[in-house]
Amino acid sequence: MSGEGPIKITDTSEIAVCTCMQSNHWPFCDATHHTTGGDGPEIVQLDKNKTYYLCGCFRTKNRPFCDRSHEKIKKSNP
Ligand code: FES
Repeated sequence: MSGEGPIKITDTSEIAVCTCMQSNHWPFCDATHHTTGGDGPEIVQLDKNKTYYLCGCFRTKNRPFCDRSHEKIKKSNP
């Protein structure tokens, strides 16, 4: 999934964010940590009336949110 752009979410008040980096549905926890070990998810509260963009490239410095770091990847890998 590395190198992909942001994931838009709306109408959501809470997300479980993967912290073990093993999820097949990153950035969302899919309970893989139960079999692989590692920490459980971080629960993040959101405003249901807002739109958010979650990082899909693993490079954000504001996890789980996109900080536009993916744009630097695209520019360096045309
Ligand atoms: S998708 Fe990772 S910083 Fe934008």
